[in-house]
Amino acid sequence: MTYELSRRRALQLAALGAASAVAGGVGLWRSAASRDELAASTGGGDLTMPEILASEGGLLQVHLEAAAGVRLAGQDTSALGYNGTSPGPTLRLRPGDTLQVDLANRLAEPTNLHVHGLHVSPEGNGDNVFIEVAPGETFAYEYRLPDDHPTGTFWYHPHRHGLVADQLYGGLAGAIIVASDDAEGQFDENRVLVVSDITLDEDGRVVQPSFQQRMMGREGRLLLVNGQVQPTLTGRSGARERWRVVNACSSRFLRLRLDGTEFLVLGFDGIHAREPRQQQEVVLAPGNRADLAVEVASEGRYRLLTEPYDRGGMGRMMRGGGMTSERALLAVYDVAAESTSSTPLRWEAAEVEDLRDVAVDALRELVFDVGMGGGRGMRFMIDGREFDPDRVDTEVRMGAVEEWVLRNPSPMDHPFHLHVWSFEVLDAGDGPLQAPEWRDVINIPAGREVRIRVRFADFGGRTVYHCHILDHEDLGMMSVIVAS
Ligand code: C2O
Ligand code: CU
Repeated sequence: MTYELSRRRALQLAALGAASAVAGGVGLWRSAASRDELAASTGGGDLTMPEILASEGGLLQVHLEAAAGVRLAGQDTSALGYNGTSPGPTLRLRPGDTLQVDLANRLAEPTNLHVHGLHVSPEGNGDNVFIEVAPGETFAYEYRLPDDHPTGTFWYHPHRHGLVADQLYGGLAGAIIVASDDAEGQFDENRVLVVSDITLDEDGRVVQPSFQQRMMGREGRLLLVNGQVQPTLTGRSGARERWRVVNACSSRFLRLRLDGTEFLVLGFDGIHAREPRQQQEVVLAPGNRADLAVEVASEGRYRLLTEPYDRGGMGRMMRGGGMTSERALLAVYDVAAESTSSTPLRWEAAEVEDLRDVAVDALRELVFDVGMGGGRGMRFMIDGREFDPDRVDTEVRMGAVEEWVLRNPSPMDHPFHLHVWSFEVLDAGDGPLQAPEWRDVINIPAGREVRIRVRFADFGGRTVYHCHILDHEDLGMMSVIVAS
């Protein structure tokens, strides 16, 4: 199937873009994204891509060293990185490949590795979050991707319970691309945009959040794209680009917009949609990824913004109010006039089962809630319990299809993430979805409920599901699931 942004539509959108640029001068754009600031915002320099490590002959072997001391936001910092950079290298794989990672821990505390979204075994030296790699030690992970693994954007980050938010916020994350050989050729430019946030002091030291901020889910004052503040992406009019965006913030939601144009959404969380969809705005909860096609018709400087997002707050339980992230400028897309005209996009949808028409083997309800806790502040629980690695909370039969109702009676959002098995979203909190959508993270908005279906296919074993506001996960909002 082919798909194309019509010329007329593109021109209408370009006109809209001009209108919003004018509005910028009269203060419609409240914070970092005003026109003057845009003019002054070339401080980030050209967007750089993390180093790409690609598999060959079905195998990718990498050595990843986690250590403090990387350049971020143009300065030397105490932040953390893999192999000296944050984000770490981009790992590029094909379906059917084996990925071997020697993770060397040069931190002062334990760590480990999670390959977020990959459909691989959670057992042994696979995607096993119960492994702990002590300081000074190295651990050999191995992940075998099935031949029919979906193609798209995934990512890796530490998953040592109690330290996940600190280490991700500290800078430990990297992208994983699963792609077939000819996937990128249709795009004039293929980019990876790992978005993260952090707070640094004047000397480049990472500022740790207060306990209150942990309970809310910390948000850093600096927003980074590939470790840079407001970098520039240089493009050409009429060219088709592919942007793989990873929300690697530990708590912040992104509500992406590109001035006066629309994104063509190719898929979320590493799974191609049945049909690409034009959207003006793309919301990514922490952990979500989007594969976007971007094409602008005329020259100009287009702002990539994240709009304000309200994810609730403590309500009446604690003073401290709500948590709304402000509008912010992420990057500038600087487009030169050049009449490139791209050929229509050949579209290959993922061959993922639509679970809406499948018989369900079990129905389950999970409740994500917060409560007052003895002296320490709030307790973060699933089904009234905090995480215990020695307890099994949910047992499922391998091959079964289950429908899960995820309820959130609390006053704040909780993005739900299940390891190993992606799921189909039936209802994201405001009614049944019309088209099938697959995810591995779905936000459960405050006071709402979400419905998903999962097939526990291919891999059995013991793993977890949790809130991807990683402070909440570290504070207890995680459960153990066993498939057998
Ligand atoms: Cu991205 Cu269990 O995590
Ligand atoms: Cu949460």
